[in-house]
Amino acid sequence: MAARCFTLVSLLCVCAWTYGLDLTRDAPPASSDSTDSTDQSRSTFESWPSSSDPSPASVHSFILQPSRGRYVYGRVALVQDPLRSLSVLEPGGAGGCERQRLVPAAHTALSGGCEVAVNAGFYNASSGACLGNVVSDGRLVTKSPVYNAQFGIRKDGRLVFGYLSEEDLQDQKNPFVQLVSGVVWLLRDGQVYINHSLQVESDENQSSTFHIDANTELKLTCRR
Ligand SMILES: *[C@@H]1O[C@H](CO)[C@@H](O)[C@H](O)[C@H]1NC(C)=O
Ligand SMILES: *[C@@H]1O[C@H](CO)[C@@H](O)[C@H](O)[C@H]1NC(C)=O
Ligand SMILES: *[C@@H]1O[C@H](CO)[C@@H](O)[C@H](O)[C@H]1NC(C)=O
Repeated sequence: MAARCFTLVSLLCVCAWTYGLDLTRDAPPASSDSTDSTDQSRSTFESWPSSSDPSPASVHSFILQPSRGRYVYGRVALVQDPLRSLSVLEPGGAGGCERQRLVPAAHTALSGGCEVAVNAGFYNASSGACLGNVVSDGRLVTKSPVYNAQFGIRKDGRLVFGYLSEEDLQDQKNPFVQLVSGVVWLLRDGQVYINHSLQVESDENQSSTFHIDANTELKLTCRR
């Protein structure tokens, strides 16, 4: 599933063995971790432990028919051990963001030795600059004060989805080893979360936000 799309900056790369992130399930693998919360009522993000099952990643195809005569073809990858097998890669490999490289995702996937790849973060199409936060294999690559949806993996293997404060991002006790910024959090606890996301991401009080079509959101489900 080497991604064909050129439009996004980094890649989620599943290398050699496994991963444990099943984004197709109806319910989260564990309850959201409210102790991570910086919000009194509900955390602005979800934090789940990940599996360390050594089974290989698997890719499944699906077809949806959202309305009569209309079909959506896609693929979903299930990753069993994301801490060890999933990487956010810079375009063309390490140093790609700094050099503002514009490289097809498939090229990055091949040179990174990925078994499965999907496109991920956004970039500035004229300058090639990476947008948002990128942490790749424990290296902080870019950092920007955006209040967009994030996906990351912490050092202890916890998967983090959602809106993160500066404090959450800076946590040195359990730092992010992979991190990428997206636009719009589509589903939360099996519920469509788009309206809430749009409101949060367009909050005038936030320093900056990507304003990019929600259809290009980061997800491991890849539409062909
Ligand atoms: C993208 O890059 C161009 C050229 O460097 C710059 O003028 C523009 O402000 C950048 N846009 C964003 C959203 O960073
Ligand atoms: C989201 O907002 C649109 C427009 O305001 C509304 O029509 C729709 O019902 C809302 N969806 C949900 C799930 O609340
Ligand atoms: C911005 O912050 C102020 C003060 O905290 C708040 O009253 C206002 O509703 C916020 N704006 C938006 C768009 O949420």
